Amino acid sequence: MSLSRREFLERSAAISAAGFMPRLPDAWPVAAEPVPAGFRGRPCVVSSSNGIRGVKVAYDKIVAGEDPLDAAIAGVNIQELDPNDQSVGLGGLPNEEGVVQLDASCMHGPTRRAGAVGCIEGIATPSLVAKAVMDYTDHVMLVGEGATRFAKAMGFKEQNLLTEKSRQDWMRWKSRLNANDAWLDHNDDIKIKFTTGTINMNAVTASGDLGSVTTTSGMAWKVPGRIGDSPIVGAGQYCDNTVGAAGSTGRGEANIKTCASFLIVEFMRQGMAPQAACLKALERVVAMTEARLMGPGGRPKFDLEFYALAKNGDFGGATLYSGGKFAVCDERGARLEPAAFLYQR
Ligand code: GLY
Repeated sequence: MSLSRREFLERSAAISAAGFMPRLPDAWPVAAEPVPAGFRGRPCVVSSSNGIRGVKVAYDKIVAGEDPLDAAIAGVNIQELDPNDQSVGLGGLPNEEGVVQLDASCMHGPTRRAGAVGCIEGIATPSLVAKAVMDYTDHVMLVGEGATRFAKAMGFKEQNLLTEKSRQDWMRWKSRLNANDAWLDHNDDIKIKFTTGTINMNAVTASGDLGSVTTTSGMAWKVPGRIGDSPIVGAGQYCDNTVGAAGSTGRGEANIKTCASFLIVEFMRQGMAPQAACLKALERVVAMTEARLMGPGGRPKFDLEFYALAKNGDFGGATLYSGGKFAVCDERGARLEPAAFLYQR
């Protein structure tokens, strides 16, 4: 049987991810939440635009009856294991010392649990390690060497995450860092890459159960030990089974100060639609931005993107600047939707 490249990637991701996450017998049990009387929902998955393949995988899983968090994690595993996505997992751009350090967090609506890892090294699927923290420990967050040791103890496979492509990008960045250092500059026009790219995915089942996950290699060329918003519950993602879920990509430092995923869910609790809640949170981000990061016209010099999903399957996304898109999969299939924005680019 011949497989398309897309099918191959999706299958490899599923197989690899399964291999990375050992099934231990005594994970804390997941009990179904009672569906509120009169509730009318629909399954839906919302993600950053790089999740366009993953939203379909996650949607098919929730429609088949799988848990919303397991489904969302299977969706982001595709990017974590794709060496060509340099914002997450294998092939993510490294820190200033050439070391790939990954962050991730997740929340499970029905059980009100959360897990996170920060600065983990050598494990391609930090989303699954975050879930293992949630499933097998009394903690919410493990960081650094402890997180890596935990993952290995749980059976995750260690591997070199610095691909040849990312190593070369790191060398180019390093050689252009300081004209007076001992590294010779390249005489080419190659643009030095930079990313705060990430993947966030949120899923809701027909009965309104939610899960959310965010995973990233963080800001390219960061100071070793830097943690962004992605592993911080309430910033990188948040989920409340009675209301909805939200998550972010973009400059983590800006998001951490507003706890925007929590804020978006709270705005939805107060009755705002997902898109309006994302825009309102972006206004808060602008209000909290320090002067050195403000450009002409009082606009931030960075970008930040928010994604939100309500318990009933309504969804929205918004960015600071125009031109952004986000991925959705529902009964109309997987597609990219235009994001609302605060400023015309
Ligand atoms: N949002 C990803 C990061 O800043 O690390």
